[in-house]
Amino acid sequence: MRTSLTTLQKMVENNEKIAVLTCYDATFATILENSGVDVLLVGDSLGNVLQGENTTLSVTLDDMIYHTRCVAQGTDKALIITDMPFGTYQTSPEQAFKNACKIIAAGAHMVKIEGGHIMTDTIQFLSQRGIPVCAHIGLTPQSIHQLGGYKLQGNSEKSAKLILDDAKSLEKSGANMLVMELIPAKLAKKITQTLSIPTIGIGAGNNCSGQVLVLHDMLGLFQGKKPRFIKDFMADAQSIQAAVENYVAAVKTGQFPSTEHQF
Ligand code: KIV
Repeated sequence: MRTSLTTLQKMVENNEKIAVLTCYDATFATILENSGVDVLLVGDSLGNVLQGENTTLSVTLDDMIYHTRCVAQGTDKALIITDMPFGTYQTSPEQAFKNACKIIAAGAHMVKIEGGHIMTDTIQFLSQRGIPVCAHIGLTPQSIHQLGGYKLQGNSEKSAKLILDDAKSLEKSGANMLVMELIPAKLAKKITQTLSIPTIGIGAGNNCSGQVLVLHDMLGLFQGKKPRFIKDFMADAQSIQAAVENYVAAVKTGQFPSTEHQF
């Protein structure tokens, strides 16, 4: 049976951790879901890992639709979330709805959008029209030029409060899930305790409802200096399937991320 929003909500109620990985094609989609990954994220990180760009800013709606179709072909169990790329949802709720429909038609079950309270009208608009939404706060790569680099967010009392307030308003507006990227573990824990929707962390400590990593990073394909929150699961595995199974087991048992991977 396909993982649904209801399944994920039940996992939260039962304290079962949600294992998420990014995925961009059918072959990996089959391997990942057969290894126990609950949710596949067709992330706009494909701009970095597939297209070789330094940012996600040049990824297009057509790119996301193409890769969503590829992933959908390879799965029948995992829930598929697709990123709405930069510039395809920020203009108005109507623009977001029009483009989200194309992503859902390509096979996604939920769309992901970056941003805090500024996105609440858009989330409400999508949600009221039957489109599940995952919000994304903390380090939001589409705002990289404004943020001034890939660095920890919410590390002062004031900025932590803003992020917590954003999380509350996103849930209130109808978000079904929340990705929290590069924030202190203590803040992610507080948000997870405050909200009732699933929270998925990346560089946000292990007190989240689940974890996500970029597939290429967890397979040890990271180029350059490895950021602290990434673990190379291929290092101790004989095959890609074994590495992914080890990731799923480490997330489900709460062993990943350990203190060495959090802030
Ligand atoms: O695009 C992506 O892969 C993401 C994850 C890093 C959460 O948004």
